[in-house]
Amino acid sequence: MENVHVIDHPMVQHKLTLMRKKETSTGEFRRLLQEISMLLAYEVTRDMPVTYERIETPLAPMDAPTIDGKKVVVISILRAGDGIRDGMLAILPSARVGHIGLYRDPKTLQAVEYYFKVPTDMDDRDVIVCDPMLATGNSAIAAVERIKQVGPKSIKFVCLLAAPEGVEAFTTAHPDVPIYTPAIDEKLNEKGYILPGLGDAGDRLYGTK
Ligand code: URA
Repeated sequence: MENVHVIDHPMVQHKLTLMRKKETSTGEFRRLLQEISMLLAYEVTRDMPVTYERIETPLAPMDAPTIDGKKVVVISILRAGDGIRDGMLAILPSARVGHIGLYRDPKTLQAVEYYFKVPTDMDDRDVIVCDPMLATGNSAIAAVERIKQVGPKSIKFVCLLAAPEGVEAFTTAHPDVPIYTPAIDEKLNEKGYILPGLGDAGDRLYGTK
């Protein structure tokens, strides 16, 4: 599990608890996801390389560190990934953005891609893939497989909640891709929902149920 980072910061945990509560409204859930994603952005970018730029403060010149936000690509797995994407972009305003849409074929149970749009020249870009719930792991695994085909420099996966089954499947399929999550819950139920979890992240984010 060395590639799994559990973000146990009290602010993150507090916001996650509020999101789990069934009485939390759609508006509040959306706001909390934005805030928690901003905090996750700090963690996921902790090892970003910096370059030094000669600047002048009002008092003296200095070599000051900067990061190149344009090299980062935030890729959202539609549709719930957009909630994390927005928080990430609040911290990384010049990041590029990609989207991937997948659905599960009811006959083959395979993930089928219906949308894929990412920036060009991915070979020198660091990708942060966002999806709130790492449940069975099937869509995250398929999304990362597809993203690997365009050859980015690195890939990280960020979620809000994970199930042990999803973590196991994902790390087996993609041992090179670190996972960042505030919590790993108990298990999946028979419908593939995370327990205790927070319900359907997309429905809670958009108020569709
Ligand atoms: N997707 C969700 O939105 N919630 C879960 O618990 C599992 C998958």
